[in-house]
Amino acid sequence: MTQQRVLVAYGSKHGATAGIAKEIGRVLGEEGFATEVVPAAEVRTVAAFDAVVLGSALYLNHWQRDALGCAHRHADELARRPVWLFSSGPVDSSAEQHEIPPVAQVAKELERLGARGHVTFGGSVTAETPGLVARGMVRHEKGGDFRNPEHIRRWAREIGAALRAGEDRGPTGA
Ligand SMILES: Cc1cc2nc3c(=O)[nH]c(=O)nc-3n(C[C@H](O)[C@H](O)[C@H](O)COP(=O)(O)O)c2cc1C
Repeated sequence: MTQQRVLVAYGSKHGATAGIAKEIGRVLGEEGFATEVVPAAEVRTVAAFDAVVLGSALYLNHWQRDALGCAHRHADELARRPVWLFSSGPVDSSAEQHEIPPVAQVAKELERLGARGHVTFGGSVTAETPGLVARGMVRHEKGGDFRNPEHIRRWAREIGAALRAGEDRGPTGA
């Protein structure tokens, strides 16, 4: 069987979501897929890929603009292949404790693209953002890195399993 090609595209302002995307790509590579991990703004076509994982950091309950632009620009091609979406945001342990549903904007994309699943991962407030935390602009006022590598790896492995099985359904984020 030919190796399936998976694109992992991400919208990230300060690098935390880029790190999540890289880990997803690494795990899928380990699982035998040919993966490419690229910033959403650099995606020229998705036609060369068998499946796509698209994710973004959340800012004030919205995806970062490049990720949303990517979803819109490639909507037709995305709707024709298996797609999974992820969001990264909560700067506390809530994403580890329970499933966090997509924000309204992302729920709309999920439906429009017929995406197979969505997950919200914990986020990270970097050295550049504590000022925003202090000013109360971040929803959760505790700073730090709340990305959970095991949560990320588990989700990536579930995508791998779904693709291998050629299933209609993939992980839902649980
Ligand atoms: C101004 C600002 C607004 C944010 N808004 C949200 C939000 O609405 N929901 C959320 O879960 N996280 C929110 N966050 C947290 C970020 O999504 C989190 O820090 C994320 O990991 C940043 O990813 P990046 O480094 O890839 O840009 C916000 C952070 C900042 C600085």
